[in-house]
Amino acid sequence: MSATPQVSIIMGSKSDLPVMQQAADFLKQMAIPYEITIVSAHRTPHRMVAFAEQARGRGIRVIIAGAGGAAHLPGMVASLTTLPVIGVPVKSRNSIDGWDSVLSILQMPGGIPVATVALDGALNAGILAAEIIGACDEQVANRLADYKKQLKEKVEAAARNMEP
Ligand code: RP5
Repeated sequence: MSATPQVSIIMGSKSDLPVMQQAADFLKQMAIPYEITIVSAHRTPHRMVAFAEQARGRGIRVIIAGAGGAAHLPGMVASLTTLPVIGVPVKSRNSIDGWDSVLSILQMPGGIPVATVALDGALNAGILAAEIIGACDEQVANRLADYKKQLKEKVEAAARNMEP
């Protein structure tokens, strides 16, 4: 039997998957159970409301929501739950230049925060979700520490290789 998902990754369209997969891959690397699905604020508004209202009760601790263009999904989900919501602006085919997606997710009104990562920054969304889980889970925190150590070692090795 698979473990109850702790992180829910949702996206407005299947076309967002190549970006959002980066978050899923990182959570898998950190051995954090997750679910991943499509929830569209505009095309399936009732599904979005049901998802957001039920997420906490299902044991979800963090939501990662990605969308492009008029990217209302992360903000609307945040308005319907007390779970932390991490927003991923996607440079989708209906986006003008990416700024529409970024600003739609970033410029939330006071009271309804969305932790917005960079354009197509789903890897960082996965890391941030793991850090939220890791705040109260020492095993996850240890895996994150190993990951950051590897990042540091890669940079140090690259710097050594660059030396004349
Ligand atoms: C947004 O519109 C989705 O999140 C996606 O980024 C974008 C384009 O969707 P499709 O037309 O590819 O389904 O709602």
